[in-house]
Amino acid sequence: MLTGSRGISLILAIAIAVLVMAFLSLIPSSTSAALWGTLILSFSISYLLISITLEFLVYREIGNIYNLLEKIQKKDLSEIQDKSLRSSLSPLRKINTVINSYALARQREIETLQKNAEFRREFIADISHELKTPIFATQGYIHTLLDGAIDDKQVRMKFLKKAAKSLDSLDHLVQDLLTLNQMESGVIKFSFTEFDLKDLIQEVIEELEHKASKREVTIKLEAEPGKNYTTLADRQKIYRVCQNLIFNAVKYNHNGGEVIVGIKSSKNQIQVDVKDDGQGIPPEDLKRIFERFYRVEKSRSKEKGGTGLGLAIVKHILEGHKSKISVSSTVGKGSIFSFQLPLEKEKKVQEKEPTEAKA
Ligand SMILES: Nc1ncnc2c1ncn2[C@@H]1O[C@H](COP(=O)(O)OP(=O)(O)O)[C@@H](O)[C@H]1O
Ligand SMILES: [Mg+2]
Repeated sequence: MLTGSRGISLILAIAIAVLVMAFLSLIPSSTSAALWGTLILSFSISYLLISITLEFLVYREIGNIYNLLEKIQKKDLSEIQDKSLRSSLSPLRKINTVINSYALARQREIETLQKNAEFRREFIADISHELKTPIFATQGYIHTLLDGAIDDKQVRMKFLKKAAKSLDSLDHLVQDLLTLNQMESGVIKFSFTEFDLKDLIQEVIEELEHKASKREVTIKLEAEPGKNYTTLADRQKIYRVCQNLIFNAVKYNHNGGEVIVGIKSSKNQIQVDVKDDGQGIPPEDLKRIFERFYRVEKSRSKEKGGTGLGLAIVKHILEGHKSKISVSSTVGKGSIFSFQLPLEKEKKVQEKEPTEAKA
């Protein structure tokens, strides 16, 4: 290839030598030996001078620019490109490759930023939408009271109670959002302790029994008597996982339905299955229910007082325990949500954990 400094020098040197020879041949007294001598001499001198100039002035400068580029882009260059660059001699080709790889890296960066921006936009739209509902309801009740309803004693109490309920759901939503955000940014630390998972589930069931009985839903715990269910986990957070799953099983069940919480302990693991015979989840929604704010039936779930964040929180908590949540569901028949936690060797004297704060 004649594109390097040597190639250019060669072409220019030949051109100069030919020109000099052509001029010299016009002089009638010049001999052919003198002509050839001049040709060789002018070619050699031109070649040397041109290549030195190119090599040391132009190409050295380009080399410097390349080194600088390489320093700036060190992070962006992949190893493969690095190897091919080292074997390539031409600084121009090197610069070309560096600029190409730089452009590619920047393009990838721009795409990631665009995706993040879109995700942020969607998230803000979702949050605003979710916040709007309770704020709008509270605003409505308070304005009606201010417009005169306050004088009617019965209406006054009813509206104040409704406004308070809307504010409670707003508080619930903000709490869930904060928890999710702190978990994603790693602010929330997990504090692992040993505890009996069966006892914890029993506590959750006791807490939810009142809500379930309102809809005549029964909650049963199925565990093998005498088995060890000691686990090492963050008790408060696992409480929240069980609370979310069992409450969902009650909420999305029909009146008079049944929820069975099965707990099985094998060699190294404890498996928890929360089974309901409720409405079930269509297959196309099944993979999305762990996303923030995703609800199968938007209006129906909202009416039931959900924030749409419960399962997203469950997923994060279990990921923090190196476990994961799985679900199988049949529309019209019901759903089973399952997760596993490690089984710990039973201690002879099991201390009871202090009472949990509500999630
Ligand atoms: N056991 C279940 N049976 C049927 N649908 C369920 C069940 N659990 C969750 N879902 C669906 O998944 C959605 C997301 O659940 P979740 O994140 O807990 O939000 P929500 O606050 O609405 O309960 C719910 O809105 C509901 O549509
Ligand atoms: Mg829920």
